Amino acid sequence: MAADRLENIVALSKRRGFVYPSSEIYGGLRASWDYGPLGVELKNNVKRQWWRTMVQGREDVVGIDSSVILAREVWEASGHVETFTDPLTECQECHKRFRADHLEENFEAKNKRKPASLDEVNCPNCGNKGKFTVPRQFSGLLKTYLGAVEDESGLAYLRPETAQGIFINFENVQMTSRKKPPFGIGQIGKSFRNEITPGNFIFRTREFEQMEMEFFCVPGTDEEWHQYWIDLRLDWYKNLGINPDRLRLFEHPKEKLSHYSKRTVDIEYKFDFAGTEWGELEGIASRTDFDLSRHQTFSKKKMQYFDTEINQHYVPYVIETSIGLDRMFLLLLANAYEEQTIQKEDGTTDARVVLHLPAKLAPIKLAILPLTKKDGLPELAKQVMDDCKKSFHCFFEEKDAIGKRYRRQDAIGTPFCLTIDHQTKEDGTATIRYRDSMLQERIALDKVKALVLSNID
Ligand code: GAP
Repeated sequence: MAADRLENIVALSKRRGFVYPSSEIYGGLRASWDYGPLGVELKNNVKRQWWRTMVQGREDVVGIDSSVILAREVWEASGHVETFTDPLTECQECHKRFRADHLEENFEAKNKRKPASLDEVNCPNCGNKGKFTVPRQFSGLLKTYLGAVEDESGLAYLRPETAQGIFINFENVQMTSRKKPPFGIGQIGKSFRNEITPGNFIFRTREFEQMEMEFFCVPGTDEEWHQYWIDLRLDWYKNLGINPDRLRLFEHPKEKLSHYSKRTVDIEYKFDFAGTEWGELEGIASRTDFDLSRHQTFSKKKMQYFDTEINQHYVPYVIETSIGLDRMFLLLLANAYEEQTIQKEDGTTDARVVLHLPAKLAPIKLAILPLTKKDGLPELAKQVMDDCKKSFHCFFEEKDAIGKRYRRQDAIGTPFCLTIDHQTKEDGTATIRYRDSMLQERIALDKVKALVLSNID
């Protein structure tokens, strides 16, 4: 995203109550963000949408909500203690730290070739060339200590992915839900990583939310299922109105695959960040039987399924879909944000900021606006509010000129505004205004709820 567009989105997020810099009254905590009243609504709507599509809307997927802090052995078995590291380098001129692999990737994106070494790379902060230290491996795991004494015995990790909470519960879930492969387990929750270079607003942070689904299948059917999930997940974004020209699939080169992966395909969005155009939204990985087998070895508990039809035990293979909720949030804002110049009938122009959010995800679905504060109009508006607010999120406002109120709703993505005026008292109709087209028409009050519901369901 061009720097000024990102800045505008950050500013709008703060001004309107989507996202605030965290710990702001103490000067802020770098790369930490708090979600405000509209932000939490949008986030919850995305979670609900994902959960409906990936869990409730399917007969072959169930949900789970596991702990953030798991037994330390989980992370030894998963390979995170050993391999969840990033190559850290420091510019000896400005002393800023970077991930060496990110520096190399950005160089390659710009120069269409890999750098021979970091000596060829300019520091993104101070511009000096060849000043980087030899990279050393830096653990991405965030540590904490359990119990009264802060020593090795109480060492624990905040989970860097929600996936392991699913793997270690494989048998519990399989038995209690009486599923047989192929079936999946979905989870939404916070993950934590000690990122070296967080940044680009909420794109890369140390605390973030993931929506992950592990799909357990019969070995040998994994490649087919992998393709199935890649196609399905890509469609999810398109069905939410994300510009398909800004979406692409990225196949991880074999030599760069994570320690657990046989094949990984990312869904990327063209955010146009400075230095790197495309950003990863979601990874769809074929994890084979790596995780279940490792937990079987480390825990000495069986992580197998007994298939009565073939009279055989096997460790299921796993296809994982893993999306970052905060990145999805940023994608929605980036995709929706528009600064429009409007030609008015009298030949003059007007400007508005509008968020073209999908109606089903918009924080507020309907703004109910009495034209004046008197003549019984607020009371009529409240009646509509009382009727609608049980079904979807509504907003009532009677202050300021109607044009100003429309602009405020446009800027937060409210798809419908309903203006109650004097005619409402006479014939029970009001003006409904559509955010994207700005068209207005009369509608009977008793038809409003159904209209909104038909657009968000
Ligand atoms: N369980 C697999 C896994 O965690 P990943 O590619 O490391 O794979 C999955 O992460 C998704 O989580 C990413 O595609 C991204 O959307 C999100 N994510 C990862 N690190 C993040 C960070 N530091 N800040 C925000 N989102 C992050």
